[in-house]
Amino acid sequence: MSEALSDHAVHTEHLTKVYKDFWGRDKVRALDDLNLTIHRGEVFGLLGPNGSGKSTTIKLLLGLIFPTAGSASVLGHPAGSTQVNEKVGFLPEESYLYRFLNGEETLRFYGRLFKLSRRDLNRRVPELLDVVGLDAKARKRKLREYSKGMARRIGLAQALINNPDLILLDEPTTGLDPIGTREMKDLILSLKAQGKTVLLCSHLLADVQDVCDRITILFGGRMRELGHVRDLLQVKDITQVQARSLTDSQIEELRQFLARMGAQTEVTHPTTTLEDLFMRVVGENARIAGASGDGNGNATITARAGMATTPVKETTSADR
Ligand SMILES: Nc1ncnc2c1ncn2[C@@H]1O[C@H](COP(=O)(O)OP(=O)(O)OP(=O)(O)O)[C@@H](O)[C@H]1O
Ligand SMILES: [Mg+2]
Repeated sequence: MSEALSDHAVHTEHLTKVYKDFWGRDKVRALDDLNLTIHRGEVFGLLGPNGSGKSTTIKLLLGLIFPTAGSASVLGHPAGSTQVNEKVGFLPEESYLYRFLNGEETLRFYGRLFKLSRRDLNRRVPELLDVVGLDAKARKRKLREYSKGMARRIGLAQALINNPDLILLDEPTTGLDPIGTREMKDLILSLKAQGKTVLLCSHLLADVQDVCDRITILFGGRMRELGHVRDLLQVKDITQVQARSLTDSQIEELRQFLARMGAQTEVTHPTTTLEDLFMRVVGENARIAGASGDGNGNATITARAGMATTPVKETTSADR
């Protein structure tokens, strides 16, 4: 490694993995020349379709498999070294936990592997079970009886048992319902607030959009895009003005003002994400009447500079 790397959570140079077949011949180039730096304190998203190399990258960073070429360092040490793995938490794509232990016993077991004292275990185990939302009943049930969502939660608690600085999450929201998904995202943000670094891989784009600072998109083992989510999603030539409770005549006045500036305008009411909508509808205290629209006259004016004026399309809640 050529630079001082201690302020990087992850740094890879030309990281490449070619899986061989039984005869030692090249079979799949799963990761090809990955040059990536993840800063400490970042939530970083590794995106890509099935088979694009996401899990391979995570396994290389953990030292579970070895690179064919290139190198990776994690928290300033070569990937896979013991002093690193003590500071790393990992939620695999599928958790292989002991089916005959209950939730609490599982965490105690992993805590002992990390040599936590009995006192620390007594404090940390219930605390983590609370954090991942497993209630008193669930804690005492054997893992073989767990639903997918419960298994994901105990997997995450296990990944956090050693209070890691870097947490690698492979498809963290798989199997979670929208409420569990939201809780998982809130948890990721709270880990960030504690100064931890999170690397998560997923093909669920909405999840990534909500929590990640930066992302990369892999395809066919190669990095195709890298940047801040905000920058990547921003439509640069469109300016959006949001105002609450405007009357129709005020909106018309605003539109005419923008038209005089030569901007093409479009007046719409803001839409919410499907997830937000779902949360609102399913939420404990959702009122049936409230689910049919916000009804508070919110309007969004979108202006595209330098375009010919065209008729304004006004979207009302009735159009939705
Ligand atoms: N042990 C292995 N032996 C041979 N090929 C493998 C092995 N593990 C993964 N591959 C291949 O490497 C490529 C990348 O796999 P990887 O598991 O990293 O993808 P992924 O992005 O995590 O996909 P998914 O979204 O399905 O989890 C795929 O073509 C896969 O078939
Ligand atoms: Mg995978």
